[in-house]
Amino acid sequence: MWEKPVSHGEILKNIWKNLDLGTLQRRHPFHTPVFGTVCDNQPDLRMVVLRRFWRRPPQLAFHSHNGSPKIKHIKANPNVYYLFYHPEEKLQVRIRGKATVHLGDELAEEQWQSTELFSRRCYIGEAPTQPSKKPTSGLPEDLIDREPTREESEIGRANFVVVTSTVEEIDCLEMNVRGHRRSLFTWNEAGELETKWLTP
Ligand SMILES: Cc1cc2nc3c(=O)[nH]c(=O)nc-3n(C[C@H](O)[C@H](O)[C@H](O)COP(=O)(O)O)c2cc1C
Repeated sequence: MWEKPVSHGEILKNIWKNLDLGTLQRRHPFHTPVFGTVCDNQPDLRMVVLRRFWRRPPQLAFHSHNGSPKIKHIKANPNVYYLFYHPEEKLQVRIRGKATVHLGDELAEEQWQSTELFSRRCYIGEAPTQPSKKPTSGLPEDLIDREPTREESEIGRANFVVVTSTVEEIDCLEMNVRGHRRSLFTWNEAGELETKWLTP
């Protein structure tokens, strides 16, 4: 088995560290998790970029276009899932929570201000997942090869949403040749943390 016993506290500390790094470092594996929603009882998954992580109470956030299908899913059913994997640490983290869509509020404004002009292009163009007769970037023609001006970028503000998620449960699997280890962290309705060990 593992060299030394470990507490749930130490495992959680490592998860928090990786989530912090995921928001800060573009090349960190936690920067681009898989995000799952439910649509008419069917799971739907896609990659997103982790933009914010708060520890108390734990919450995660990414940016999106208000017209994208995942936003409709969340409004119909706020139950969501994040999946992270760190290949060097062989660490899988699955996070279940409830999502909220922020449009035009204080958080959306804060995140919009921290979004680079180049990235703001995503919100100027058409919403994702629209049918097109030909291959398309969805961007206005004259913005395909250049950064928008600050004034042009403001068109995107109306489409820009921040999706935050609570953290209700974390299922953590650490893989090791000498035996895997699996831990479960559940926050009850009073916000208290309950912990368990699971077979991997
Ligand atoms: C590496 C990577 C990062 C992505 N980040 C985001 C993101 O932060 N927000 C987002 O809305 N879509 C992001 N996308 C695009 C989505 O995965 C998805 O294709 C798009 O949002 C449409 O999803 P939907 O139809 O489920 O709403 C990303 C895709 C990749 C490959």
